[in-house]
Amino acid sequence: MKKKLNLRDFGIEMWDPQTIRSFRRTLLTWYDQEKRDLPWRRTKDPYHIWISEIMLQQTQVQTVIPYYLRFLDWFPRVEDLAQAPEEKLLKAWEGLGYYSRVRNMQKGAQQIMSEFAGEFPQTYGDILSLKGIGPYTAGAIASIAFDLPEPAVDGNVMRVMARLFEVDYDVGNPSNRKIFQAIMEELIDPKRPGDFNQALMDLGTDIESAKNPRPGESPVRAFNAAYLHGTYDKYPIKLPKKKPKPLLFQAFVIRNQRGQFLLEKNHQAGLLAGFWSFPLMETQLLSKQLSLFEDDSEQVLETVSLQKVFEEDYGLSPIWSKEELPLVKHTFSHQKWQVQLLEGRVVQADLKGDRDLRWVDPQDFDNYPMATPQKKMIDAFEKGQE
Ligand code: ADE
Repeated sequence: MKKKLNLRDFGIEMWDPQTIRSFRRTLLTWYDQEKRDLPWRRTKDPYHIWISEIMLQQTQVQTVIPYYLRFLDWFPRVEDLAQAPEEKLLKAWEGLGYYSRVRNMQKGAQQIMSEFAGEFPQTYGDILSLKGIGPYTAGAIASIAFDLPEPAVDGNVMRVMARLFEVDYDVGNPSNRKIFQAIMEELIDPKRPGDFNQALMDLGTDIESAKNPRPGESPVRAFNAAYLHGTYDKYPIKLPKKKPKPLLFQAFVIRNQRGQFLLEKNHQAGLLAGFWSFPLMETQLLSKQLSLFEDDSEQVLETVSLQKVFEEDYGLSPIWSKEELPLVKHTFSHQKWQVQLLEGRVVQADLKGDRDLRWVDPQDFDNYPMATPQKKMIDAFEKGQE
């Protein structure tokens, strides 16, 4: 058995049992009156709750609702998700970002089919064993769908706990999560664990939000040490994070004589795997390739050289436009992209080689999963045409 963490070692004094009971009652009474009516709160189906929790991890409630409803419409049962074709899966997630979430969900669904005979697992440990499900999501599903007294500790809950107990540990450091988990294990209401967790989510996204908290309106302000001691602004402790890495890309916007655009499917693992976009090259890679062409590898990247690399790699010889197109910017959590667009037209449009290339009419773009940077590129290109 895992050794129980002693909160005193972290400078935290847990409340007495009566205060804990009073806190539960106060929080749940408020929740019963104020809770948001959300589609996933009208069900105890673990598959539905799983979908909602995964979508809600990086996306706001109002954005999630239509995606959630459509996802259930397209994949009503675990087995539908397990068998879904990749293109449809990515389409269902298009715009939500962090696509590994949905790929992992599909693997999790396949696990449910093969390891759990198609029935959603019903213990915390089994739920946690599913691909893409971490302690937060396992706790949320276990508590909401199966009434198990498992905390669901995310950023919202950590923020609320940090203020309640003046926790002097960085909430951005994953190794401190166990402190908040230990607090929640003491506090969670064993009679209504799912509601208890969701009450804290509601509190954390509104009254106890990160940006505009209204601590004086909190139903549990009388329990809140930071509020009572005038240290509210100090919590949660959050130390600065590493900045996203800047990357420069060149995108090639190539059309044939029928007005179709050249799209390429990204077969590399990682960020944006499986998505279609204009042919895209990172300029660091480009400068490496350029040194094959140029005598002087220090030479600055000139458009004419970029064109040469493209022609070599794609076996096409476009007539290049001199038109300046707007720079496209997109920031992921760990990368900050800047994309230059270069436009060209081809007469001889045969596609050969190993790349997954397709000529696509703009009105058919909807049939190809595209991530946000590609959508921004299309917008920028259209703007350049006006
Ligand atoms: N955020 C994460 N899970 C949630 C839920 N079940 N209800 C509302 N917001 C949430």
